Amino acid sequence: MDLKQSYYDLYGKNEITDFRFGQLMDIIGNAKKERRAELKKQDSRGNDWYLSEKMVGMMLYIDRFSKDLRGFEEKIDYLAELGVTYVHFMPLLKSREGNNDGGYAVSDYLEVDDKFGTMKELEHVVNLLKKRGIHTCIDFVLNHTAKEHIWVEEYKKGNHDYDNMYFMYDNPSVPEQYEKNMTEIFPGVAPKNFTYYPDMGKYVMTRFYEFQWDLNYANPQVFNKIVEVLLTLANKGIDIFRLDAIPYMWKEIGTSCMNHPKVHTLLRMMYSIVQDVCPSVIFLGEAIVEPHEIVKYFGTPEEKECNVMYNASLMVLLWNSLATRDVRLMERSLARDYGVPSDGVWINYGRCHDDIGWGFEKDILQNLGFDPEAHKQFMISFMEGRYPGSFSVGELYEFNPVTLDARNSGTFASMCGLEQALKEKHSYKIEQAIKRILLLNSIIISYTGIPLLYSGDEIGQLNDWTYKNDRKIAGDSRWLHRGKMDWDAAAKRYDSGTVQGKIFTGIRKMIEIRKGCSYFRSDLKSEPVDLGNNAVFGFHRENKMMVLANFSEHEQWVDANRFNWFGLPGEMTDLLTGRPVRSYNNAILLGPYEYLWLV
Ligand code: GLC
Repeated sequence: MDLKQSYYDLYGKNEITDFRFGQLMDIIGNAKKERRAELKKQDSRGNDWYLSEKMVGMMLYIDRFSKDLRGFEEKIDYLAELGVTYVHFMPLLKSREGNNDGGYAVSDYLEVDDKFGTMKELEHVVNLLKKRGIHTCIDFVLNHTAKEHIWVEEYKKGNHDYDNMYFMYDNPSVPEQYEKNMTEIFPGVAPKNFTYYPDMGKYVMTRFYEFQWDLNYANPQVFNKIVEVLLTLANKGIDIFRLDAIPYMWKEIGTSCMNHPKVHTLLRMMYSIVQDVCPSVIFLGEAIVEPHEIVKYFGTPEEKECNVMYNASLMVLLWNSLATRDVRLMERSLARDYGVPSDGVWINYGRCHDDIGWGFEKDILQNLGFDPEAHKQFMISFMEGRYPGSFSVGELYEFNPVTLDARNSGTFASMCGLEQALKEKHSYKIEQAIKRILLLNSIIISYTGIPLLYSGDEIGQLNDWTYKNDRKIAGDSRWLHRGKMDWDAAAKRYDSGTVQGKIFTGIRKMIEIRKGCSYFRSDLKSEPVDLGNNAVFGFHRENKMMVLANFSEHEQWVDANRFNWFGLPGEMTDLLTGRPVRSYNNAILLGPYEYLWLV
């Protein structure tokens, strides 16, 4: 990757580019000088550590998990007990007052938000985590800043160095041209992509919420400033940057302003800078777009972009299989070859802080005889809990009364049936819900990639309906699954008779086994196997092990000849229980929602 060449390709050959490129070189040079010796030592070990089977993540909001960074220190033992080796702190940099989209409206990249603590405290926590073998990931919101960001303030003060860092127009004609091809991200709570500010007399691009102003990467100053911030934070010891909303970074009239080829140039430049300054640092890209677009964000072996990407496909396919008791869509979709590079790794998860959008491979659905639109409506209503017989309790997100389109919100446990079962005090349904929770985790933890848990899910936390009492966030149902960590409930994890005990112990056990077995390394691919039974999902990891998972509440037989062609001996062992698994006339019986990790 020729950084200079790419920079000039993007910004043109002129005096301004010369000047800005010189500045960028200074930023890089300074960051190298400032990198501490221990971090350089860490760098010398390279950046392939993320391929290890030991990688297990947990994402959390500091205030909801432990009040603040100081409180967090006391909770490190809890994470270590579960086996977590990377912590993703949800946005913790200074963000605007009032609604800030859960911290995704940053007002100062170089300060930790007061409500969590200080930058010094963050550095201290990062060091404590390193000592325990736990990596730190932070959100890096680089598509937009809060409208109160210091760069906006400097511009308003008349500091010309800050001109053109955002998209601002005196009249609506340019915004109208952009709007022609842009989609709306929050059509309900934040429709359109521009906002008019009478005090400034300007139309500003606000792709997400009105208070989130889009950065203009066509101005090299924006790239330089963002790189400066990135390197400064990397030098605080951060190991993983979650690059937020990357598909939107480059905007051009006449395009959808999504997945623009120039986004890839920006990411390649950033990756190569990180390789130069702090090569142990990795990028986790957030691009919730079609699978063939997601894989592009891994870059190519010669020109890399992100090391790790969210596996949104697996997530929706897991919920789909649970709702339909039919794994064929999952099996066929995952079998598709999207050309993920050998060191490109997925983050596998069931829930995160965002809503679930039902993006399936339409042609596969159609081949299975489903009408894609009708099926989407089924998923929306099933996960909300409206569909007759549904076990899930959730809410709609961004419901559109005209098209009936919607996404869904809800916690892992509530969507697996635990909320409904507990409400009905129905012990059989409670058992079933726990089984579903563990079943999904059994795939998330064994499938190729890095498992990521969302804090609270490891003890089966239910939906938090109290967000509706807070006017600032009541319109955003994503807060349904962003409840406070219930430490009293977590304390019950040692009691095997409790819901918490069963879920926590089950997940911890899977993590422990994963970490002790090199078959779970991320460079060992997973391949789905058609087991001839629509309810049972199976995949093998390069012929070394086979995972079987029954997505129905009924017993299911599978034909062992279907997967044993790679020669597992007659008697197999379930890694999870250590018990031998025998076949009867070459068939294996799986109990309701049972899963096996066979070797
Ligand atoms: C990402 C975040 C989401 C946020 C958006 C805007 O998609 O995951 O929570 O609303 O970016 O920053």
